[in-house]
Amino acid sequence: MALFSSSTRDVPQVNAVPVHVAVIMDGNGRWAKKRFLPRVAGHFKGLDLLREMVRACLDRGIRYLTVFAFSSENWRRPQEEVSLLMQLFAKALQQEVAKLNRNEVRLRVAGDLSRFDPFLQGLVRDAEEKTATNQKLDLTICANYGGRWDIMQALNRLAQACPEKAGAWSEEDLAPYLSMAFAPEPDLFIRTGGEERISNFLLWQLAYTEFYFTPTLWPDFDTEAFAKAITSYQRRERRFGRTSEQLPGQDNA
Ligand code: IPE
Ligand code: IPE
Ligand code: MG
Repeated sequence: MALFSSSTRDVPQVNAVPVHVAVIMDGNGRWAKKRFLPRVAGHFKGLDLLREMVRACLDRGIRYLTVFAFSSENWRRPQEEVSLLMQLFAKALQQEVAKLNRNEVRLRVAGDLSRFDPFLQGLVRDAEEKTATNQKLDLTICANYGGRWDIMQALNRLAQACPEKAGAWSEEDLAPYLSMAFAPEPDLFIRTGGEERISNFLLWQLAYTEFYFTPTLWPDFDTEAFAKAITSYQRRERRFGRTSEQLPGQDNA
């Protein structure tokens, strides 16, 4: 597995187009409520917007898109909503594979899948296998994912694999066991829906990511709204601990 450098160990290369975009797709429920629709109608519409986002990433040459679909804390929601979300997830997995293949999109699901019913686990494995050779865009759906869960599962696997080095493990030792080991750290993090928090998303990987918060609800977050997020990203100065003067292209005199 190709491992990427860590933003805290080496200064990453920065491009105008983000390589990896991570998104908390929030606001589906409020979108539906505003329209006097059941919350699930918002999730349904949200799936449309995810399709649009995948298209926009392909068009822009973004290489990795990681989205938060269901957090380890979302089990706390009413049972009916959880079950409808699972049904929507299962249906999407079944329906989208052909289209993902046509567009050369590789799908992965990150999270603790053991809590999903075996049928859904099978659909996930199947979709991952069928898209495994696609190389244009890596789309990762975080489902029953939690940043703390991720760090703990990685630590536990490292402890099993390399107990003799306990007490002297480095970032590099842990990195291969994290769920997102196949991708570089996100360049841009977007959260729609107005909330300005991480909600236990990619805690480890967001160390030097640029954050973009917008009040736009996820089902309204169209290509134009995404373009604004990219423009905002392009105006940022990513220093990674250095001073402005030290950045490439700056006058270092
Ligand atoms: C995000 O939308 C989707 C999931 C968490 C599954 P919400 O369902 O959180 O929508 P709001 O925040 O209630 O509007
Ligand atoms: C969690 O969203 C992340 C997802 C979109 C799945 P929530 O809407 O559940 O987040 P909180 O609980 O309000 O922080
Ligand atoms: Mg929410």
